[in-house]
Amino acid sequence: MTLNSLPTLHPSLQISDDEKGHELGLFCVPKHYEDDLDRVIIPHGLIMDRTERLARDIIRDMGGHHIVALCVLKGGYKFFADLLDFIKALNQNNDKSVPLTVDFIRLKSYSNDQSTNQVKVIGGDELSALTGKNVLIVEDIVETGKTMETLLSLLDDYHPKMVKVVSLLVKRTPRSSGYRPDYFGFEVPDKFLVGYALDYNEYFRDLSHICILSEHAKEKYKE
Ligand code: IMP
Ligand code: MG
Repeated sequence: MTLNSLPTLHPSLQISDDEKGHELGLFCVPKHYEDDLDRVIIPHGLIMDRTERLARDIIRDMGGHHIVALCVLKGGYKFFADLLDFIKALNQNNDKSVPLTVDFIRLKSYSNDQSTNQVKVIGGDELSALTGKNVLIVEDIVETGKTMETLLSLLDDYHPKMVKVVSLLVKRTPRSSGYRPDYFGFEVPDKFLVGYALDYNEYFRDLSHICILSEHAKEKYKE
């Protein structure tokens, strides 16, 4: 793993294509998933350490005004909760602090392991609540970039004061539109990842580490 220098405002931790990850048996993994996963690619502890630093970077840049953190459900919920805990810790241990409120939106663009061309908003609060606010969109993973580009253009109609996007992961893929979030935790290989709220047809959200899904599990949990 190395620090990358891809075109983004902030550096990220790059996980190379030949990264072997860690043997499953070295970590605690739910029994019901033991046969479905290949390797642990990002252990939970590393996710937490990187998230702590993202919180610091975000507060440094956005910390002047009230922030509305917008969680993209469902995949973003773990990262959202942990990132906000770190932001709260900064708020309560510094001379300067910034009010933080939360909002949620639910989007769906995936069936099995394929991104569909349609990004659907299937729930969430009224976006008009974001007018004039500093909005921090919190997402689990950017792959083609379509979901985020759709959400950003949706938000545009409501005229927020500022919008920043933080994604825990960005996938290195030829299917990318070129979109890069303002902040991201890790750049990952073009494989299907699960765990830490990232799912495959709703399974694997109940797994702490980020793992590579096995081919056999793709068949087993197919819709
Ligand atoms: P995009 O629109 O292609 O950028 O896809 C983004 C959305 O697809 C994310 O918000 C995820 O919900 C989902 N997604 C993309 N790659 C993965 C993956 O490897 N595991 C789980 N979900 C993924
Ligand atoms: Mg998502």
